[in-house]
Amino acid sequence: MVCKLSVNLNKVALLRNSRGGRRPCLLEAAEIALKAGASGITLHWRADERHTRANDVAPVVALCRERGVEFNLEGDLRRPLLDLALETGVDQCTLVPVRPGELTSNHGWDLPGAATELSPVIAELEAAGIRTSIFVEARPGLMGYAADTGTRRIELYTEPYATAFQCGDFAAQLDALAESAARASALGLGVNAGHDLDLHNLPPLVAALPALVEVSIGHALVCDALLLGLEATVRAYVDALTPPQQRNPDAH
Ligand code: PXP
Repeated sequence: MVCKLSVNLNKVALLRNSRGGRRPCLLEAAEIALKAGASGITLHWRADERHTRANDVAPVVALCRERGVEFNLEGDLRRPLLDLALETGVDQCTLVPVRPGELTSNHGWDLPGAATELSPVIAELEAAGIRTSIFVEARPGLMGYAADTGTRRIELYTEPYATAFQCGDFAAQLDALAESAARASALGLGVNAGHDLDLHNLPPLVAALPALVEVSIGHALVCDALLLGLEATVRAYVDALTPPQQRNPDAH
């Protein structure tokens, strides 16, 4: 089974919001990602709308539906997010805990305690046909508690692995992820993973977690897109400044 890639477009939205206009267009970015082979699109709608906005969701859901791929909405347990998931009919809703002031998600659900608030929300979403996933840390002992919430999937929090990978000493973190994934899978849970994954730390992860169904990747993917695409883009601008008769037809 090839692990699916859901492209998280929050950083594209962040760039758009920085100017208040429509560029870069989220829908266009989603189209390109799907054309390039992504299996789905993820948006994380935060209460402060610093990147994805509520009205971004429906058009991207519609595009995903049209293309026969999945849309994954990430967010916390606030009522407007659940209503948005239900109204737009997202395929998957990944429930993520939030700490006031955090720059990005930085922890999984505090299980088993959080089950009290998670379980009714999971039951409501599942009753509406939306697959639920909950964000959890890679601690094998948590997987039983995760299963008890009624969720269909978990998303393993990979930031500690990604940080360890940068230092070159990541075996313990990878083992924790592999054991957590194996245990979750044995309990009947689907296994997703995400946070700080990139082109370098992804291959060992996928090799160590055969049960991995999907990764969602945003920050590194958008950073790479920027740098990998910069040369061609600068050439195009230089070209645009050059009178047509002086343009070098072999320049591209
Ligand atoms: N998974 C969750 C729960 C997240 O909050 C995020 C960031 O929005 C991601 C995955 C993607 O992380 P990154 O942007 O580091 O790839």
